[in-house]
Amino acid sequence: MFKSMFAMAACALALAAASANGAQDQGPILIKFAHVVADNTPKGQGALLFKRLVAERLAGKVKVEVYANSSLYGDADELEALRNDQVQLLAPSLAKFGQYTKQLQVFDLPFLFDDLDAVNRFQKRAKGRQLLRSMEAQDIVGLAYWHNGMKQLSASKTLLMPTDAAGLSFRIQPSQVLEAQFQQLGAKPLVLPFAEVFNALQKGQVQGAENPWSNIYSKRLHSVQPYITETNHGVLDYMLVSNPRFWYRIPHSIRVELEGIIDEVTYAVNRQAEADNLADRQRIEASGVSQVLSLNAEQREAWRSAMRPVWQRFETEIGADVMKAAQTVNRKQRK
Ligand code: LMR
Repeated sequence: MFKSMFAMAACALALAAASANGAQDQGPILIKFAHVVADNTPKGQGALLFKRLVAERLAGKVKVEVYANSSLYGDADELEALRNDQVQLLAPSLAKFGQYTKQLQVFDLPFLFDDLDAVNRFQKRAKGRQLLRSMEAQDIVGLAYWHNGMKQLSASKTLLMPTDAAGLSFRIQPSQVLEAQFQQLGAKPLVLPFAEVFNALQKGQVQGAENPWSNIYSKRLHSVQPYITETNHGVLDYMLVSNPRFWYRIPHSIRVELEGIIDEVTYAVNRQAEADNLADRQRIEASGVSQVLSLNAEQREAWRSAMRPVWQRFETEIGADVMKAAQTVNRKQRK
């Protein structure tokens, strides 16, 4: 009896040792980082910088593979792939988490944030930081916010007043707020994956879209949209996310190093994003392919009032506390 117990314990020890060695033999921890935009965008650059810094500082311990342009997963399947540990890092736009939390819908509300600085203040404050943890029960943990920029409206015709959008169909990200926003204008929203936007505009499946300058320029959307109105009506930012079951199993010292790298990359992306969008706006104007229109104060106010009812509709789902926190970050207080 004693002998067989001893044999079993020895066997268990041998198995444990084998599996520890096995873990080492498996080589570095692999982090697949997938995203849907081009390399020459704020997110694309951020992913490549993350890969470079990991290669420099954690060689042999962690290996990062970056898959841009929806080449591994796209809008339709990337979050499920993350939850199943088939991919370990993503940075979806904040509009793409509606299935997992309603609170992040605050970022889609039109004309809520005056500019990217206001968005930045909200993300840094307690409520914004809490939202990073709002999906942990669904196997999604937020590691950082990354900026892209404010969205502009593009279309096959000039859009100067909100009534100009009526009857047109617009491609949207999968967000109920964005759906309501276009319905409020009498327009037809159509959810399409980012990878399909160029073709949908080219074929006339939709006549308009909303994107930051960097996404318009890097996907040549201006070549199929003769008019772009500089509305800055909403934000397109990202949450860098992982699967907590993967992330918290990374040995502590390595995870701390990775988190330090993420802080550095976040700082770089967020510093660069506004400059990149400004440069891409200028490139689009210089191309002469698409006409860039500006709104005067009266027109802008008309768009704001037309879209404003969307706020009330989503306030309960988002939560009065989140709404209140978001409304305190603009420099100019509004009624
Ligand atoms: C979109 O689908 O328009 C964006 O979320 C794409 C992106 O990741 O910037």
